Amino acid sequence: MVMDKKFYVTTPIYYVNDAPHIGSAYTTLAGDIIARYYRQKLGKENVFFLVGTDEHGQKVQAVAKEKGLTPIQLADKVSEEFKDAWKLLNVGYDFFIRTTDPRHEKIVSDLLQKVYDAGYIKPGIYEGPYCIGCERFYKESELVDDRCPLHPNKEISHQKEKNYFLKLKDLAEKEVLPRIEKGEYQILPEERKNEIISRIKQGVEDVSVSREGVTWGIPLPWDKTQTIYVWVDALINYFSATKFIEGKEKFWPADLHLVGKDILWFHAVIWQALLIAAGQDLPKTIFAHGFFTIDGQKMSKSLGNVITPKQLVERYGVDGARYLMISACTFGSDGDISLKSFDIKFNADLANGLGNLVSRVAKLLEVRKIDLEKLGVEKIGDFSPEVASAIENLKLDDAVRYVLLFVSNLDRYINEKEPWKKERLHEIVIWHNLVKGIKQIAYDLKPFVPEVADEIEKQFNGPKIKAKAPLFPRLD
Ligand code: MSP
Repeated sequence: MVMDKKFYVTTPIYYVNDAPHIGSAYTTLAGDIIARYYRQKLGKENVFFLVGTDEHGQKVQAVAKEKGLTPIQLADKVSEEFKDAWKLLNVGYDFFIRTTDPRHEKIVSDLLQKVYDAGYIKPGIYEGPYCIGCERFYKESELVDDRCPLHPNKEISHQKEKNYFLKLKDLAEKEVLPRIEKGEYQILPEERKNEIISRIKQGVEDVSVSREGVTWGIPLPWDKTQTIYVWVDALINYFSATKFIEGKEKFWPADLHLVGKDILWFHAVIWQALLIAAGQDLPKTIFAHGFFTIDGQKMSKSLGNVITPKQLVERYGVDGARYLMISACTFGSDGDISLKSFDIKFNADLANGLGNLVSRVAKLLEVRKIDLEKLGVEKIGDFSPEVASAIENLKLDDAVRYVLLFVSNLDRYINEKEPWKKERLHEIVIWHNLVKGIKQIAYDLKPFVPEVADEIEKQFNGPKIKAKAPLFPRLD
């Protein structure tokens, strides 16, 4: 990734029909890690990390009704649940956007009017299957046994209505595709980019940007009988936030949109087409991560196997939960998780690995009464090159793996040097290497496990060290 003096990273904004779970937590955590990394690198004021909730549309309208709430009551309630979940996971976002914010609504309306005035939108009739779960139209040929491939338990509705259409076919083939091929913006991982390219080449249909029968949303500015399609409304959040929040103008275009693979098409193609039609700069990178299954099964409310951030934090602590989630699979690929494998990994990597190393070194320094100030360990000012490059290339799990490797190397170093022996007391270089190693580990781990990293830093801030309770008590 090219190093600019600013970094703007976003997560999808989540629908308020559902509470936070490990899927939404995963993307948000990844965003937080990346934002923390760039804050350490570029300074706080040069990073903007945006999260939020997607509050309009048919699905939210329907779920609110089922629950006996108005849509805004539901949105108020669930957006708070998301804020609480992110607080629990120590996600330090810079702004939480809600699409019912009138400042956002105004920008959406203006942007769409601009696209209309430029001639990229035309009226038409849409007829076809619609999945409320996805909030999108499908082609008959895309359905599996007459069901949505992503929501097989939900009824598909067949809709025929007057809509306005973005001329996506032209835009995708003539404007979007050449930009992808020239690398004007990146779609990652590479395989996903190739899928997008071949899908465009197979032919694209124009996409509806308004809905006739939906009232919970932003009115279409030139035809108030229509409501702006929830996906168009939602995508514009990334842009609108930089316009209505004071001092954030310099952050557009976004450096990185993190999304799940299920919504890549919207971000990699439709969003770009809209921006091109509105004459705006395009985001630089769109990264799609994979999906979690739980014990080999799709995570779903009906199966009752949904894992929530709260459950993880209760069992593993905030930093334990963050560590386990981010190292659960290769960032960008699908992965299966289970609490059992989390337990094993917690004990191996955190209790026996990192936690044990830190106690071991602290104990040695304490017993030997080593004066840290005499060791000449300079302040750590940067990430290990391996960690930096892994994070910048969005290989978040590799970054963690590298640090863990370093932990075990340092453990081995202790075994070899046997610093507990009396005659080692004056071998300053050994003590120097141990303290420096621990400090580097803390620095490298800060974006991932911020509280634990701070604790380690404080503990090793000398001059004298005291051993403490284990950072990660073993789970039985
Ligand atoms: N509101 C839209 C996004 C609009 S962005 C302009 C939406 N919301 S959602 O609530 O359905 O969240 C979808 C996102 O949640 C996915 O893209 C993905 O990031 C995450 N995940 C949901 N389930 C997941 C898994 N089982 N595993 C990993 N991530 C998953 O779509």
